[in-house]
Amino acid sequence: MQDTAAPFHPATRISSIGVSTILQITGMANALKRQGRDVIVLGAGEPDFDTPDHIKEAAIAAIRAGETKYTALDGTPQLKQAIRDKFRTDNGLDFALDEITVSTGAKQVLYNAMMATLNPGDEVIIPTPYWVSYSDIVEIAGGTPVLIPCAEADGFRLTAAALEAAITPKTRWVMLNSPSNPSGAAYSAADYRPLLDVLLRHRHVWLMVDDMYEKIVYGDFAFVTPAALEPTLRDRVLTVNGVSKAYAMTGWRIGYAGGPRALIQAMAVVQSQSTSCPSSVSQAAALAALTGPQGIVAERCADFQTRRDYVVGALNAIPGLSCRMPEGAFYTFASCAGAIGKTAPDGSVIATDADFARYLLTARDVAVVPGSAFGLAPYFRISYATSMAELQRACTRIAEACAALR
Ligand SMILES: Cc1ncc(COP(=O)(O)O)c(C=O)c1O
Repeated sequence: MQDTAAPFHPATRISSIGVSTILQITGMANALKRQGRDVIVLGAGEPDFDTPDHIKEAAIAAIRAGETKYTALDGTPQLKQAIRDKFRTDNGLDFALDEITVSTGAKQVLYNAMMATLNPGDEVIIPTPYWVSYSDIVEIAGGTPVLIPCAEADGFRLTAAALEAAITPKTRWVMLNSPSNPSGAAYSAADYRPLLDVLLRHRHVWLMVDDMYEKIVYGDFAFVTPAALEPTLRDRVLTVNGVSKAYAMTGWRIGYAGGPRALIQAMAVVQSQSTSCPSSVSQAAALAALTGPQGIVAERCADFQTRRDYVVGALNAIPGLSCRMPEGAFYTFASCAGAIGKTAPDGSVIATDADFARYLLTARDVAVVPGSAFGLAPYFRISYATSMAELQRACTRIAEACAALR
């Protein structure tokens, strides 16, 4: 008798999680490229710059010195010390070494935190538009994401009233991300204040802040982080950060966080049974990033600002589109409301932002990500982490595509 294997069934914990729209669009864009088309992809979630040389050299030196073994579970003492100094100098936060954790990217930090804290039915409040990994991680960890739309009129920021209304006895966490992927919106001290006042009244709710884009803020915007603004919340705030975006180190996979000792210990338990420790070589590189010269970070930020100004100006000049000026990160999140309901030259109707993104890709070879992929429509995200020449070509094509709609 033929022995046929039973069909594959994924675990229920991942059954509701699909391949992200971003990956689907990248897949379509790559397929068009393979056909020889000149596709401009504006989807990258990483700086187009290279990791600075002194960081690479530190990693090479670490390999030569034999730093190629398992390290302490949640970070080498040297790297934790550098992170401690960084939090103190940049953010006015004072953490002991055992209140700091280092993981394989900030994504693993978030994953560890959710796995370490969520029980079935626990709710996590996530303002949208948001980085989709937040809700997927919450679901994998058995929690329930509670998505709260944040209007453009409010700067894509969560309001105190919306936060208050979303809190229930089951709320475990609120996740805030400033500057935001995908909107580029950031919270000033004044923006944070009313939200922190709500949290002061709801003592069972913890706050996870994702400061990943801290170093990419523009003009006179002053970056602040909630644990520093409201020290009495310190016992229930996890402050997450990393080297991926600031130092163009996405592939090295180092993220870190500071927070209450008991939480950090629980997160270490999760890490101990998944990755054991972050890569030893990458930790040496991250140490060099945090302790080495910082000038290049500001130089690159200035480049990003020039590109932001260009893209926002170009998009706002296109009838049917409008784009809020982001305070940070390297994304624009523009409204395509004026294109919805219009008809493309091939007769198809643009009914959603996903249709709009598909139209830009198929008709004009420009890949952007629809806002619906980040939980807020009708918008589209452009990553301007690409050369000015590419951005100019892309914006010209978007203008032509919009002009061709009837
Ligand atoms: C808002 C936000 N947080 C965290 C991350 C994850 O960064 P890491 O490379 O450290 O895992 C990203 C990456 O795109 C991000 O956009």
